[in-house]
Amino acid sequence: MVQRRLRFFVAALVLMAPISFVLAQTSPVSAVPEPVQKLIKDHCLGCHGGKSPSGHLSLEPDQIPAGILNRPSRGNSAFKLIDTAEPDKSYILMKLRGADEIKGGRMPKMRKALKAAEIQTIADWIKSLAGQGT
Ligand code: HEC
Repeated sequence: MVQRRLRFFVAALVLMAPISFVLAQTSPVSAVPEPVQKLIKDHCLGCHGGKSPSGHLSLEPDQIPAGILNRPSRGNSAFKLIDTAEPDKSYILMKLRGADEIKGGRMPKMRKALKAAEIQTIADWIKSLAGQGT
């Protein structure tokens, strides 16, 4: 009896392995495109990198996008850092655009704003993340 249960358990595990593999593949999080990586490296990582990133927000390559997908902002928790349901309401974009709802400063803090085309590059990337990581 015990043996039969064990056999069933092992069989179930063997059967489930490919299923969980397929499930894990259904909403993959794609790699961050090169131009976005460069913008973040050039304009953000100086503060949002290392061991104690500004605003407790790490934008290091191993943290994005998975670490910030649909995660509430610390500054204004009504918004998500990257909102895969409503990309335009992503707090990162609001911070780059200096939207009225942001707490704290426009990003990059105390530096020149990114150019409209650069913000658009990041906006397009965020749009491309729709439905990912959910
Ligand atoms: C000179 C330092 C500095 C630079 C450069 C900088 N930030 Fe920040 N950032 C901060 C600080 C400090 C805070 C926390 C206070 C605030 O929100 O103003 C912050 C907060 C944020 C937040 C809000 C986090 C939350 O959970 O609410 C976002 C989003 C953000 N930064 C994005 C960026 C992006 C994207 C860039 C690059 C384009 C960038 N920052 C560049 C210093 C910086």
